[in-house]
Amino acid sequence: MSDDYAVFGHPIEHSLSPQIHHAFAEQTQQALVYQKQLVEPGEFVEAVNAFRQQGGRGLNITVPFKEEAFNVADELSDLAQRAGAVNTLVFSGDVIVGHNTDGLGLFRDLTENHGVDLHGKKLLILGAGGAVRGVIQALLSADPEQLVIANRTESKAHTLAEHFKDLGAIRACGYADLDGDAYDVIINGTSSGLSGELPPLPDQLLNPNATTYDMVYAKEPTAFVRWGREHGAARALDGLGMLVEQAAEAFSLWRGIRPYTAPVIRQLRGS
Ligand code: ATR
Repeated sequence: MSDDYAVFGHPIEHSLSPQIHHAFAEQTQQALVYQKQLVEPGEFVEAVNAFRQQGGRGLNITVPFKEEAFNVADELSDLAQRAGAVNTLVFSGDVIVGHNTDGLGLFRDLTENHGVDLHGKKLLILGAGGAVRGVIQALLSADPEQLVIANRTESKAHTLAEHFKDLGAIRACGYADLDGDAYDVIINGTSSGLSGELPPLPDQLLNPNATTYDMVYAKEPTAFVRWGREHGAARALDGLGMLVEQAAEAFSLWRGIRPYTAPVIRQLRGS
């Protein structure tokens, strides 16, 4: 008998999560089935309940349901509580526990897979939506010199900075205010890259040996990966590693065993 897991989202067609979790399961010799399920807006709670009633053990939740997943959880991890969003549900008896593994996924990819030290560094994150909110606590845990949130709608960046200010040195600004500053790590958390656009960024924004990181992953280099390369980043990374690391964290929560991520990242890169 296999245990059932799934990822719920809308759209969901291009999700790599089934491939990632089946690779983890094979590697760790766990008997499980992981499927992707398209959920219509307004039907999220029914879909979660139906999945549980059929014996499902846990879920990953992606756009646009992470806030609804937060609301459906009976208990929340510290990271999920602060993020206001849940990407992993664990069904533990009668209790639904909500976690957010996105921040740890980004943190592990940057620091462990790519050896990027965040401690004492100047970090800039672009965007102030749900994706950014999910990763700020993990970034601040590295004790950077400063984390700046820049957003088109500046008020949203200020709201986020206020929400996390007890956890570290964080401030907010608009894109026009970035002129004259330079950063060690710049993370793109806007959804603008999906349409091939970028926020308006000044040219001299990178310190020597800087890293750029696009939280989005695509087969071809994203607009922000290209921006990093063109502006002299030592590393211009995309979000494939984050995707695999957040999945590994979810897998560990469900199965109590941590898979190796490097072979899975290599496999996806090659495919
Ligand atoms: P997500 O869950 O992916 O974070 P979201 O909460 O809708 O989605 O947030 C999208 C983010 O991308 C926001 O920071 C948004 O900026 P605004 O808050 O000003 O809307 C940003 N974004 C989207 N398109 C953009 C563009 N063309 N230029 C700059 N920022 C953009």
